[in-house]
Amino acid sequence: MSFINLIAIDGPAASGKSTLAELIAKKLNYFFFDTGVMYRAVTLAALEQVKDLDDEAKVTEVANRIQVDVQPASKEDGRVMDIQLDGEDVTWQIRTPEVDQNVSKVSAYAGVRKAMTDQQRRIGERGNMVMVGRDIGTVVFPDAKHKIYLEASPEERARRRFIEVQKRGESTTYDDILASIRKRDEVDSSRAVAPLKPAADAHVIDSDSKDIEVVLEEALQILGKPVS
Ligand code: DC
Repeated sequence: MSFINLIAIDGPAASGKSTLAELIAKKLNYFFFDTGVMYRAVTLAALEQVKDLDDEAKVTEVANRIQVDVQPASKEDGRVMDIQLDGEDVTWQIRTPEVDQNVSKVSAYAGVRKAMTDQQRRIGERGNMVMVGRDIGTVVFPDAKHKIYLEASPEERARRRFIEVQKRGESTTYDDILASIRKRDEVDSSRAVAPLKPAADAHVIDSDSKDIEVVLEEALQILGKPVS
């Protein structure tokens, strides 16, 4: 099956793929779906239900039991979509530092990935969607007609994240952010199942020293949409 109306955008942490996907979704009137929220929701559920997250079998059991869903934003509190975990709104609970620290481990488990991939396919079949992640073009929807892989150097990604963090008044240093980005890259790219890498037929965009407007223009050209 070919998902003509599904756009897959993959890339490393803080590469700007969500910002790009949101802009494309707005322009085409598509639904924006950031699949990282699924792994965050499993991590949240596992933190509540399993004592030791190193226990892969127990964490996988949780992933198989829960239902994660995404819906258009129901509130104007900065959210871009609603995230539901077994029907409960967990949009903000999945963004805590505790989830941040554990999500790479949880998302490396093969059984967790299988459960979440199935749920992403169920949601993707609704169509008219820009889906963002690490393995959308390679594993989740290898038949997606449009695939973009957004790249940026670790230093550039750390610089962008540092500016965001400073705006929020948090006290993390640039060096800490850079170290954390390098660590996540390492975990995401070296895991055995669905490692982070561009699909053979993906269009790679390098966003280093490019404004988001330029990246958007490049992406729209790749998608064959008029740039205006
Ligand atoms: O993009 P993010 O920071 O919300 O992603 C959270 C984690 O989930 C990150 O460690 C990578 C992982 N992830 C994944 O393995 N596959 C996806 N399709 C999306 C995210």
